[in-house]
Amino acid sequence: MAVVDRKASALPVPYAMDVPDRVRKERYYDPAFYQLEVEQLWPRVWQMACRLEEIPEPHDFVEYEILDQSVVVVRTEDLGVQAFQNACRHRGVRVAAGRGSCENGFTCPFHGWCYGPDGRNTFVSRASTFSAHNLEAGDLDLTPVRCEAWGGCAWINLDAAAPPLRECLEPVASILDAWQVESLRTEWWYACRLPVNWKLAEEAFVEQYHVLQTHPQLRIPGRYPARDGSFDPQVFVESELHYLRTMSEGMGGMVHADDVRIAEGLQGIVLPADPTSARAAWEQALNEAVVSWHRGRGHALPDLQDLEARGLNEPMGYAFPHWFVLPMYSSASSYRFRPLGPEETLMEIWSLTRFPEGEKPVRPTPPEVWECDDPRWPPIPAQDFSNLPRQQRGLHARGFEYMRLSEQVEGHISNLHRVLDGFLAGLPYDRLLPALRSVNVNPLEQPIVDIAFP
Ligand code: FES
Ligand SMILES: [Fe+2]
Repeated sequence: MAVVDRKASALPVPYAMDVPDRVRKERYYDPAFYQLEVEQLWPRVWQMACRLEEIPEPHDFVEYEILDQSVVVVRTEDLGVQAFQNACRHRGVRVAAGRGSCENGFTCPFHGWCYGPDGRNTFVSRASTFSAHNLEAGDLDLTPVRCEAWGGCAWINLDAAAPPLRECLEPVASILDAWQVESLRTEWWYACRLPVNWKLAEEAFVEQYHVLQTHPQLRIPGRYPARDGSFDPQVFVESELHYLRTMSEGMGGMVHADDVRIAEGLQGIVLPADPTSARAAWEQALNEAVVSWHRGRGHALPDLQDLEARGLNEPMGYAFPHWFVLPMYSSASSYRFRPLGPEETLMEIWSLTRFPEGEKPVRPTPPEVWECDDPRWPPIPAQDFSNLPRQQRGLHARGFEYMRLSEQVEGHISNLHRVLDGFLAGLPYDRLLPALRSVNVNPLEQPIVDIAFP
């Protein structure tokens, strides 16, 4: 990997975002562009490595793979998290595979070198046959990787010089903290292999512009005033319930079934005739009913109405480059994207909900990876997936040069590509941090923003 002097002037970026509302197609398949991401992006960003309920007990570990790197994430005895590169210091064999408990440490399967749960080397077989410089204390320990916990997840960063996690996640970290994202646990977890670039996959889920065309079942009359201005509050309630049920079934849990039932309990509510006041009164009643139902079962969740009043009840929170969460009332969907090649992506979806405080989390089962046309996908992701391979193929058309973005509602796509260019140019972290702050927000309906570098 090329070593970049980040104090020197920025590296040239091929197919750069010179015009903010146009994205060159080569960014989604050009091997050299992909290689630049491999060298300049992925080794320098905080990545969601696992959910904490995957490692519920001290010494539980999981292996996180990104490109050709494997990182072992371990829950420590004091319940913090730690990570190491998964390579035996003797001849490089991966010492851990998949997940499990490392209470007795790790034993390399090749020649039996041993490591404690903290990654320290504890045993070298036939040590007297090695010269002293290959037995230096410390040099034989598994190489540590930066690892921090936030939001119910363990995050890793392969760059020892990267700023702390929290600094890189703001302002979304504070917004999601107010929503108590850390008290969510996995209800189910799916994985999909998509024959598209990782950015293309992600971009299909971070804008709302596609919703009415791609998901026609979400065009529900009665949720908003008709063209002639007429509005019926009773029809509105029925339409909202229909919307919640469609989202719940269609996304396989994005609106939790419990919250749908809570909403159904409000069916007889009398709302004002004015549409704006009717929506506000409905949302308030539903927020309050959801909070009281969940708190009655010992679930930790914030006062949603109070969050609403403080402007913190966001429908989505994005963390560059590969993770986001979509809160809906008590629960959420969460997504992670990892490149498997220039035109191949591993995408995961979690359905997250609240459990009684103090109840031991159930360790989620890692998902079988389904193809994007697998009939088991719920209708809404199935519709999104149906566009993606067609889009990746369409990008290769000779006459297609670049995407034409709406500067008002698809701005997040431009924003994330320009932050990406900052990484690819090898800019120092003091220049990247303000850019990360402008992209780590609710991406839906975002305009193009000034991210402090072109
Ligand atoms: S490679 Fe691990 S003990 Fe030899
Ligand atoms: Fe969609």
